Amino acid sequence: MGMMLRTMASIGLIGLCLLSMPEWSETLGLPKRMTDFADDAMTLFEEITGGTLEDVAPHVYTSDPDTHRNVSEIIRSRGYLAEEHDVVTQDGYILTVQRIVNPLVKPEYRNKLKPVIMQHGLFSSAADWVINSVQVKPEPYPKNSSDSSRDSYIDDTFDGVGDSQEHPNSLGFYLANRGYDVWLANSRGNIYGQRHVHMSSWNPKFWSFSFDEQIEFDLPGVIEYVQKVTGKHKVGYVGHSQGTVMGFGLLSSKPEYADVIEPFVALAPVAYVHHTISPVKYFAVYTPVFSHIDMWFGTSNVAVKYLAPLVCSEKNIKKKICANLLFLTTGFDEDELDEDRVAAYLNHTPSGTSVKNVAHYGQEIISRRFAHFDHGILGNIMKYGTHSPPDYDLSKIRSKSIALFIAENDWLAAPKDVARMRAELTVEPYYVFNVTTVKPKWNHIDFVYGKNAGTIINPEIYKIMEAFKND
Ligand SMILES: *[C@@H]1O[C@H](CO)[C@@H](O)[C@H](O)[C@H]1NC(C)=O
Ligand SMILES: *[C@@H]1O[C@H](CO)[C@@H](O)[C@H](O)[C@H]1NC(C)=O
Ligand SMILES: *[C@@H]1O[C@H](CO)[C@@H](O)[C@H](O)[C@H]1NC(C)=O
Repeated sequence: MGMMLRTMASIGLIGLCLLSMPEWSETLGLPKRMTDFADDAMTLFEEITGGTLEDVAPHVYTSDPDTHRNVSEIIRSRGYLAEEHDVVTQDGYILTVQRIVNPLVKPEYRNKLKPVIMQHGLFSSAADWVINSVQVKPEPYPKNSSDSSRDSYIDDTFDGVGDSQEHPNSLGFYLANRGYDVWLANSRGNIYGQRHVHMSSWNPKFWSFSFDEQIEFDLPGVIEYVQKVTGKHKVGYVGHSQGTVMGFGLLSSKPEYADVIEPFVALAPVAYVHHTISPVKYFAVYTPVFSHIDMWFGTSNVAVKYLAPLVCSEKNIKKKICANLLFLTTGFDEDELDEDRVAAYLNHTPSGTSVKNVAHYGQEIISRRFAHFDHGILGNIMKYGTHSPPDYDLSKIRSKSIALFIAENDWLAAPKDVARMRAELTVEPYYVFNVTTVKPKWNHIDFVYGKNAGTIINPEIYKIMEAFKND
């Protein structure tokens, strides 16, 4: 075991070495602060490969109970009921979908709640929608109107105090307390999406997918399943990062979904990625190789995952470094990060994807396009009948319920890329919320882990949901 961890640590080290070499940084145009992060990470890896790892079990090092809970266990620990559903996609992948059931919804309302599907981003899982509220408890729904202590669900007062019962940071609980039927989706490839009706995840073919398949099979599969169980035709949809790639991809390749997905709330919207300043950019260098590898993208991630509890321990006060490892890819806003929770976050993220999926982003960075996977000329002719892969044509989207939540400091959803996407939409977004106007340093990951997501983001999403509630 110690041996294995050390090997994984060294694999991660190679990547970080490259990242911290000045000439690489210059080639890739990475900002200075990035290379600082990489230096910290190097120090960390050096210390760890020094040989203390094999003697210790990771769980010794953190007392945050969420670290070792799965998504359903997190939901139940807050007093809600959790259901686990297996969604089988048209191409045979089995995805766990967790449903939050608020036990205080009056029975006669239970079947009336509007379903909302929440879709996590790259490397993440359904945990993103529940892990950021520690104290939250179920609220009665509908609210007892004679109870005057809280007379409205909508509270416009912005105090920026962070997670609270009124404004839980985790959107899953926020909407479950306000009369929504919350379904937390998982994409193929993460730890809740590694089963298939006839393939083992040890089979390389299992890993031959990118976000194309998540768009074509995963999202429609989950939507159809939720429709069947709830008997509702329309579903609300909230995507973060890759979750928005899936939304834009589906709405442009199958525009008829505009009548099903309502509203589409896009947090840190991603379609184009050419201008990203995240080190994901750095993977672009490997695109030609990665594009042909059918494997789990997990090696260095596993290292991070195992190292996290060690680094984030109360004994080793290295929370900053620890945070850097996580926020290395997404950007990092110190004000919004609760350092005490980092151990828990890191144990759920990165949650895994395929190497090809990462390669697909590399292709987008290089080609400046939002297109299907590039299999090379021969592969493309066989698969698409054209030399180059077809675009996801944003002008085909006819959804009138798109809400964009954007931030200038978003490393992944860079302002220039977001602007290009908006320019290509032929429908006006229903709503645009520029978080930078209230929180100048707001970044990509803050939409899910932000200390103030509950007061800044969630009330806005709730208002949008209410506007489409009875459609
Ligand atoms: C989550 O944990 C519970 C035990 O508390 C277990 O029954 C369930 O299968 C786990 N879910 C997944 C998806 O592993
Ligand atoms: C509603 O709230 C009032 C005052 O708090 C309480 O007396 C009453 O029993 C509550 N009714 C229900 C149905 O919960
Ligand atoms: C968002 O707000 C910031 C700060 O006011 C501003 O500089 C930026 O141009 C805004 N972005 C968009 C896309 O409106």
